[in-house]
Amino acid sequence: MTRAPEPVTISEMTPDALGDVASLCARELVLDRDAAAIPGILMRRPCISLVAVRGRVMAGSCIGSVATGRDGTTDGFIDLLVVDRGQQRQGIGRQLAGAMERQLAIRGCGQIYLAGHGPYYAWPGVDIHYTAAVCFAEDLGYRRQGCEVNMEVDLRHADLDAAVAQDALQSAGIDIRRATPADDGPMQESLGSTWQQSWIAEIAAALRSSQAGLYLAVQGGRYIGFCTYGLNREHEIGPLGTSPDRRGLGIGGVLLKRCLTDQRDHGVTVAELVWTGPLSYFSRTVNATIGRAFWQYEKNLAVTGQAADWRDRVGLI
Ligand SMILES: CC(C)(COP(=O)(O)OP(=O)(O)OC[C@H]1O[C@@H](n2cnc3c(N)ncnc32)[C@H](O)[C@@H]1OP(=O)(O)O)[C@@H](O)C(=O)NCCC(=O)NCCS
Repeated sequence: MTRAPEPVTISEMTPDALGDVASLCARELVLDRDAAAIPGILMRRPCISLVAVRGRVMAGSCIGSVATGRDGTTDGFIDLLVVDRGQQRQGIGRQLAGAMERQLAIRGCGQIYLAGHGPYYAWPGVDIHYTAAVCFAEDLGYRRQGCEVNMEVDLRHADLDAAVAQDALQSAGIDIRRATPADDGPMQESLGSTWQQSWIAEIAAALRSSQAGLYLAVQGGRYIGFCTYGLNREHEIGPLGTSPDRRGLGIGGVLLKRCLTDQRDHGVTVAELVWTGPLSYFSRTVNATIGRAFWQYEKNLAVTGQAADWRDRVGLI
């Protein structure tokens, strides 16, 4: 007689479980460098973290977060969902996602996203090559929205010499330099009138992080450009931005090359420009090539029994 499998218990993650969740990510997130770091990255901000345990074994985990807009609206994010491969296709992912959706609904979220929630996120969406995760999202009624990509720069072959361009900008009164703690307040105030709040949060977090890097372009006390790297993972780079009225002068290229040079000096061989655009700019400037691609998903919890999007399109079921 075969024994029935032990039941699965879903509960809040305790601090001592973090190591097991990190190991689970290292085993299952096979497309990711530094996958073990992902739970720690997501837990840098207030989050909901759940684990699924069978007997004494860590079978799965889900981490979610809430974004509150300036108008007080709240949106929910599922930032991570992972199940041990020996325990997949037994409903554990469905139980974890269901428990997370209920937790997010209790906090006022009507809309749930499988998409990057800056500043602390692992991916812009679901990597299209995590086939099981894509199937899972679509079968659970998540609607496919945009597609975003990361671009890669091979630092072993890239030409990162920016000295001539930087000198020319210096002669025009534009200083490109590494950020210092004294930049924090003035930088946020200066950039805040031009850039979205989520980018300002990422830039400020990079300035305060001991492992991240941030370069700034400053002209006459005004902050006109920025580029960050390594906030979440060492090989990652972005966001990068130049004020609209200062574009076309080569500021972005110098900022980017300074960051990439730091990454190369730290031993990174292939840098990843995260959630990249415009693609042609990065292709032209540092010969970046398209790497990972991500679909973003969205679900309205108020719409029950929403048919999976592909069923609408195929029209078979
Ligand atoms: C995605 C993942 C979490 C799903 O966990 P799971 O416990 O196997 O999911 P469930 O058993 O609850 O599956 C629910 C439904 O999702 C769909 N699904 C799940 N895995 C699938 C697969 N490999 N192929 C096709 N559909 C799949 C099915 O509709 C399934 O229902 P069914 O088994 O009744 O057909 C798991 O495959 C995983 O950990 N993958 C690696 C990590 C990852 O890619 N995470 C995404 C980044 S956040």
